[in-house]
Amino acid sequence: MAHHPLDAREAVRALRASKIREVANAGMGREDVLAFWFGEPDEVTPAFIRQAGIDALIAGETFYTHNLGIPELREVIASYVTRLHRPTGVDAIAVTNSGMSALMLATQALIGAGDRVVAVTPLWPNLVEIPKILGAEVECVELQFGPKGWTLDLDRLLAALTPATRAVYLNSPNNPTGWTLDAEAQRAILAHCRRHGTWIIADDAYERLYFDEGRAGSVAPSFLDLAQPDDRLISTNTFSKSWLMTGWRLGWIVAPPTLIPDIAKLLEYNTSCAPPFVQRAGVVAVKEGEPVVAHTVRRLRGARDFLHAHLGRTPGIEAIAPPGAMYAFFRIANVTDSLEFCKRLVADAGVGLAPGIAFGPEGEGFVRWCFASSESRLADGVSRLQRFLADYCAT
Ligand SMILES: Cc1ncc(COP(=O)(O)O)c(C=O)c1O
Repeated sequence: MAHHPLDAREAVRALRASKIREVANAGMGREDVLAFWFGEPDEVTPAFIRQAGIDALIAGETFYTHNLGIPELREVIASYVTRLHRPTGVDAIAVTNSGMSALMLATQALIGAGDRVVAVTPLWPNLVEIPKILGAEVECVELQFGPKGWTLDLDRLLAALTPATRAVYLNSPNNPTGWTLDAEAQRAILAHCRRHGTWIIADDAYERLYFDEGRAGSVAPSFLDLAQPDDRLISTNTFSKSWLMTGWRLGWIVAPPTLIPDIAKLLEYNTSCAPPFVQRAGVVAVKEGEPVVAHTVRRLRGARDFLHAHLGRTPGIEAIAPPGAMYAFFRIANVTDSLEFCKRLVADAGVGLAPGIAFGPEGEGFVRWCFASSESRLADGVSRLQRFLADYCAT
């Protein structure tokens, strides 16, 4: 690639541009488009959470806070993690300006130029690109798609995790596939990583969006259930999905207490702190928001079942209902260029889906549909897709 004197550095120029955006740009501004391309619940943040933010603004909470967050929020997060997973002190918690920011901070804390990291894919592209910004090499271990949906060949993953592997990124439940690690696999990965000194960076953004009725309180199996506070584990999380707060930009990190002072320094040099009124809304979300989580999970489970029942009756589509997250990630017969397919689908049928290739080469031939939407919109989307496919297959 030819260099221009005003170019960004090579690692930045080499980052992938979002292929989801590429499709969305083709359909943005068209009112007739049913957009299911972004990973975002379609409901506004509940009023009592918004009110907490408003009240804090009215009370004049417009100043910097501690880098690690206001004490009240760190405390309620520590209690929340304790309730869901294991006893956790405030000294293990850092408040961040989103789940995305939590992942960037975790990576900045651990990963340097030339480090080797491993990621399990298909995967939300940000997780694969973040380490590259810092000059790391990312090796991908692919999930397999079969009659049971997306599964991991655990031996393959363990073989990829060598003593030279600095960190492994695991997002479970996973965006885009919904694949969810079970406790047994987590135990094996943790034991292996302990032997090799490899860090686990667990992106737990969707841990509450888990549809296994057998598990109390709707939470996916987590490395936090198994690891000790001094294990090499960072769990990142977000308010975006569980409490319908994508635009607020609030998240957190659970890390070994010895690492937290360095994360505080990184917070200072990234964003300094999350906005105080956003943090106040966060306190109320965690303290009083369990009914919101329960409502969201109920609604998403219904939407998942509804969409998959319809997709299952559509010739040429291979879709298996996922155990978690909020996406259908399904294969369409004869689609070999998912980007091109999604662009045509939005142009001709007004349905906005994300191309599988956006999540890694093993996602080619698949598309992602965010089902955090009403049944009537989903039904409209399915019939448009079915009409489009009837023509598509005929050409
Ligand atoms: C897997 C995964 N991790 C983290 C995030 C980050 O969410 P946010 O930056 O909104 O907190 C997302 C958002 O889509 C995601 O899909």
